[in-house]
Amino acid sequence: MTPATSLFSPVEDDLDLLTENLKNLIGARHPILYAAAEHLFGARGKRVRPAIVLLVSKATIPGHELTPRHRRLAEITEMIHTASLVHDDVVDESDLRRGVPTVHSSFGNRIAVLAGDFLFAQSSWYLANLDNLEVVKLLSQVIMDLAEGEIQQGLNRFSTNLSIEAYLEKSYYKTASLLANSSKAAAVLSDVSPSLTEALYGYGRHIGLAFQIVDDILDFTGSTEELGKPAGSDLKDGNLTAPVLYALEEKPSLEVLIEREFAQPGDLEQAIAFVRSSQGIERSRALAKQHSKSAIACLEELPPSASRQVLVKLADYVLSRLY
Ligand code: IPE
Ligand code: IPE
Ligand code: MG
Ligand code: MG
Repeated sequence: MTPATSLFSPVEDDLDLLTENLKNLIGARHPILYAAAEHLFGARGKRVRPAIVLLVSKATIPGHELTPRHRRLAEITEMIHTASLVHDDVVDESDLRRGVPTVHSSFGNRIAVLAGDFLFAQSSWYLANLDNLEVVKLLSQVIMDLAEGEIQQGLNRFSTNLSIEAYLEKSYYKTASLLANSSKAAAVLSDVSPSLTEALYGYGRHIGLAFQIVDDILDFTGSTEELGKPAGSDLKDGNLTAPVLYALEEKPSLEVLIEREFAQPGDLEQAIAFVRSSQGIERSRALAKQHSKSAIACLEELPPSASRQVLVKLADYVLSRLY
């Protein structure tokens, strides 16, 4: 996406190198995996997570020169993210990702599950090779959290009594944990103070929550074309996100439609109309904004630098995807 590209210009060359490295790291082992990797890393992912890792790294290294370990951490972060998407698309039966057909729709479920496993396994290998036990622990926790998040989501399909707190907890596991722990890991590699390290964890956590809330709003307001993945699928799949949870508070008939899993013709369309005509979208925007502000507040302790400035702007970029 263009706005991200210009925003990331201070780390643009580093991100291009990262994409090349990722293709090589993954491709070396097996032609089918190479095809899957080529397919995924060649497509237009926004690379938000490695950009954050690179920016946090630069902002915390004296002299601001990236080390090979910081670069490798950024690669591992994108590898874990991509693995989670490959599996998520199998679970969600989604046919489009990053504007191209998903791995499972091109190669079948069997290959997609194996390719996702392989990416996770490979990320663990590169992680171990960073030779930093604390970083290994942080990122292994993320891999557990991703599975936990998908499981929580799967168990709560169509449950209209889901609370906003439970939704945010699931969003932490699915999305924010990776951003939080990879920012923290970059700070750990830079060996900064414990309080700055925790602040950077907080930055990633809040940005991650804002990002997921925005993504959930876009599922209602965006088009498949803009998003590069199918729009309007969360509600249909029974995945109740912030806009729906808020809408449920003011539209009791929405509950009936969801409870019967849109069994009657026109149910889904009616439900979408309820969400759109409620305060749900607006209140979700406000919630995302709150987390974006909290993310910026976490940067207070970080010494001024060009990278820090981009991290601040990134919190706005996350929200700007809505307009
Ligand atoms: C998609 O993440 C999954 C969510 C957490 C919403 P991105 O929107 O960052 O996906 P890519 O990497 O740009 O494709
Ligand atoms: C994204 O989940 C995958 C993970 C964060 C593990 P979603 O199902 O919410 O996101 P999209 O809409 O497929 O990108
Ligand atoms: Mg999905
Ligand atoms: Mg999903």
